[in-house]
Amino acid sequence: MITEFAPAYAERLIRGRRATRAFRPDPVPEDTLRAIFSLAGAAPSNSNTQPWHVEVLSGAARDRLSAALVAAHAARRVSMDFPYREDLYHGVYQRRRRDAGERMYTAVGIDRADHAARDAYNAESLRFYGAPHVAVLFTPPDADARMAADVGMYGQTLLLAMAAYGVASCPQGLLGFYADTIREQLGVRDRKVLFGVSFGYADSAAPANAVTMPRADLAETTRFHS
Ligand SMILES: Cc1cc2nc3c(=O)[nH]c(=O)nc-3n(C[C@H](O)[C@H](O)[C@H](O)COP(=O)(O)O)c2cc1C
Repeated sequence: MITEFAPAYAERLIRGRRATRAFRPDPVPEDTLRAIFSLAGAAPSNSNTQPWHVEVLSGAARDRLSAALVAAHAARRVSMDFPYREDLYHGVYQRRRRDAGERMYTAVGIDRADHAARDAYNAESLRFYGAPHVAVLFTPPDADARMAADVGMYGQTLLLAMAAYGVASCPQGLLGFYADTIREQLGVRDRKVLFGVSFGYADSAAPANAVTMPRADLAETTRFHS
């Protein structure tokens, strides 16, 4: 039910969600997991096609995937379904990306120029920042940008559903750099990996979680016509 309090709740929920990069080890109870993923399925999609497929890993399954990702990274076995190029971001996007990296690395005491330390931190993120769970979001095998957008809609709905249940999360595009490893580990044949979401309860004392990311002013992104 929408009430007069809804805008205040929405402000708190949407602005309160943060990418969390340090977690406590205690797992999210099974019934909470089911409630969250059920709620995420309420996401909108083109013609209600709901083209997402999600694999949720906990316990030993989570540990096996993490070990396989760390091994793939060490062996440089990179495979992407949605290709990435170094020059993908330029102009304002490149500036925002640099700023985000600077904030993130500063929070954990890594010098921007220390590429080895940055690489090590990224490799470490394949342990899901210590989160007890990870979800991998897949598109259908023949997905185009339209379907990827639908799965993105699901992704943000999932993050907000988690936030509503007090569960912290970090979407991780980096997991999509190891698509073959993920498919092999999970026995998924032909779907494409869009990104992963590490989740659990935040370690609120961890320096990594002190980072705040700013947003562009409304006028920079949005024009109102009448
Ligand atoms: C699709 C997607 C992929 C992302 N990939 C990563 C990632 O690989 N590693 C990471 O630490 N954060 C990743 N992030 C988190 C972003 O860095 C973060 O959302 C952004 O800096 C804004 O910060 P906030 O979520 O705390 O507001 C990703 C976010 C999205 C939406």
